[in-house]
Amino acid sequence: MESILNNRPALAAEVNKVAEVAGYLWQKGWAERNGGNITVNITEYVDDAIKAMPAISEVKSIGATLPHLKGCYFYCKGTNKRMRDLARFPMENGSVIRILDDCASYVIIADNPVQPTSELPSHLSVHNDMIARGLNYKASVHTHPIELVAMTHNKKFLEKDVATRLLWSMIPETKAFCPRGLGIIPYELPSSLKLAEATIKELADYDVVMWEKHGVFAVDVDVMAAFDQIDVLNKSALIYIAAKNMGFEPDGMSDEQMKEMTIAFKLPK
Ligand code: 13P
Ligand code: ZN
Repeated sequence: MESILNNRPALAAEVNKVAEVAGYLWQKGWAERNGGNITVNITEYVDDAIKAMPAISEVKSIGATLPHLKGCYFYCKGTNKRMRDLARFPMENGSVIRILDDCASYVIIADNPVQPTSELPSHLSVHNDMIARGLNYKASVHTHPIELVAMTHNKKFLEKDVATRLLWSMIPETKAFCPRGLGIIPYELPSSLKLAEATIKELADYDVVMWEKHGVFAVDVDVMAAFDQIDVLNKSALIYIAAKNMGFEPDGMSDEQMKEMTIAFKLPK
């Protein structure tokens, strides 16, 4: 079958990473039905032949004007598509879109006219903001990690950095590999522009943010790195829960131990 990935190994490798992560999300139980979505800025892999590809959809509105995305291309999970299906067939459960010159609309160009995720306003607003800030971040992942979402059903974990400090203190690697912690965004309607705006604001201080009672949204240089940040945080949540299930409140690493770790690993705060 004709595919945009044919004879483009670098682009195919990037999309295959999305498929690999989609499989992990399903295996972890974080991707029930169509739960979660992934987008990747693939503009660096776009050649003249891709630029010349015609639209295979009508022009669709993003819902926001995003000046830094002019002429950018994204691989997007399709709305209502399953991660477990995307893991095997990424180009049948996702598509490549081109942002048009008005910076407020897009068309689908390949392989099939699969409508992008309903969380596109959040994903694209975040990509726009990452470019504006000069970051080399290319991927955004939204997923529903069970234990982290469960924590947001308790008000104390919604206070600034309470969950971050607890999760960091469960095992040293969590702070090492998620050094900016977990930002918290009070509940907003899924797929809304208000959620997108709140997400951008919170990502100024964190690489992973929690949408209260819904799921996390993570950004990083590629999809694998974004997944890893969520994975280490959820691992800490599991350790916390395991201790609670054994009938005690875990001690957590001491302030002294955290400080020593922060200096040794040259972490930001
Ligand atoms: P989509 O199927 O539109 O990507 O939505 C899944 C989801 O998790 C919404 O928050
Ligand atoms: Zn969701």
